[in-house]
Amino acid sequence: MGNCIFRPKLKKVDGVFNPYASNKMIMNPPNVYIPPRGASGQGIPLPSQCSHPLPTPTSPQKNNPVGKNRNGTLQNLPTESQILASPGLKSFLYSELVEATAAFSADNLLGEGGFGCVYKGWLDIDTLAPVRPGSGMAVAVKKLRPQGYQGHKEWLSEVNYLGRLHHPNLVKLIGFCLKGENRLLVYEYMPQGSLENHLFKNDRRPLSWETRMKIAVGAARGLTFLHNSEPQIIYRDFKASNILLDSDFNVKLSDFGLAKRGPTGDQTHVSTIVMGTEGYAAPEYIRTGRLTAKCDIYSFGVVLFELITGRVAVDYRRAKEEQNLVSWVKPHLRNKRALVRIMDNSLEGQYPRRGAFVAATLASYCVNPEHKFRPPMSEVLGYLEQLQSPKFLTLPPSPPPDAMRSSTNWSPINRMPRGPSRPAHLKSQHHSRLSRYIESR
Ligand SMILES: Nc1ncnc2c1ncn2[C@@H]1O[C@H](COP(=O)(O)OP(=O)(O)OP(=O)(O)O)[C@@H](O)[C@H]1O
Ligand SMILES: [Mg+2]
Repeated sequence: MGNCIFRPKLKKVDGVFNPYASNKMIMNPPNVYIPPRGASGQGIPLPSQCSHPLPTPTSPQKNNPVGKNRNGTLQNLPTESQILASPGLKSFLYSELVEATAAFSADNLLGEGGFGCVYKGWLDIDTLAPVRPGSGMAVAVKKLRPQGYQGHKEWLSEVNYLGRLHHPNLVKLIGFCLKGENRLLVYEYMPQGSLENHLFKNDRRPLSWETRMKIAVGAARGLTFLHNSEPQIIYRDFKASNILLDSDFNVKLSDFGLAKRGPTGDQTHVSTIVMGTEGYAAPEYIRTGRLTAKCDIYSFGVVLFELITGRVAVDYRRAKEEQNLVSWVKPHLRNKRALVRIMDNSLEGQYPRRGAFVAATLASYCVNPEHKFRPPMSEVLGYLEQLQSPKFLTLPPSPPPDAMRSSTNWSPINRMPRGPSRPAHLKSQHHSRLSRYIESR
């Protein structure tokens, strides 16, 4: 279950949380809050005094197919009935999902998030009728907790986006159930669960470097698809728990409850109530509520750092200076030798030095505090694809067994040929330099 990790205590001031200065106030925030991560991770417990109204069970666009966004620009938004009539989505009876999951039995519980619990169930592959557990096709059934923080609006947004968008790196929504106060979603089952479980749970075999890069590429493809869609879609909730993995560690992004149309025409951003997850949300978005695709890039950089370090975006069990992953890694990005201090210990030194250095440098570009300096997603994907080439995947020789056992100081980085003390591409934060660095290898 997701709640095996930890549930941090977060400081909130005037309904605003600032992960970079959790004791400081943010000036004049516009109705800002970040919703909870639920039981499973590093999210923000929504305080009862939060000023944001919970979404009501009625879609604001129900009788208004042409809606206005907050900037007053007209945009065509589908009605609730249009969304629910999406071809290819099955409308399930509640009783069918009760049967498919053995009455939502605890044995079938896959995890729990802010929305509610997720159960494993079984359906007939052709008719989608419930079948005996263990037979037919496995599915994941997400059941909205009636008192959950994420409500009908997010549920409908998920049906809307996943009902229309199809891509190998987005999870497939099979159907939904809307009956009385019951709201459920039925997805394809992802046998390896979420990236969060693999990175931060001790009961899993550590992911190899190559698998980590495969996951980064898959996630980048999913985000690139969303950002290049017409109209653009901003995911807004990119984090390790929303990156699901199939049996071959192929990525499928899940949870489109917070997804939002990107700016259109002359707009530079979309103004929203700030929603997202602590540690992953971009600082300028938390400050201003101005959403752009660059907010997703920031979150992507955070996840890339999680893949590199094996550390979670925010961890209040650590010493103060190590609690925020982005702040902690920054001083260690000067060169390959410094990088060794932040690499995930569970890799046991089995990572390519150059590949890791380029990945960390790329991640640092993604989390640039100035959103205009963050590279676009397609560029990030291009770099990551290059990191899958053999020259960036070659591992150092395994440590001698004696050294592993007896010396705490053995570091494979010592065996590397020394490079320049400060690689040229790091002298500037401009990412074209990263490109030159990759090409020169
Ligand atoms: N399609 C799926 N196949 C397999 N497991 C899944 C699937 N969807 C979700 N899960 C499991 O259920 C857990 C909870 O997912 P859920 O999206 O509800 O919460 P979360 O991502 O942890 O938090 P949040 O509510 O903030 O998104 C996931 O971490 C994953 O382990
Ligand atoms: Mg999720």
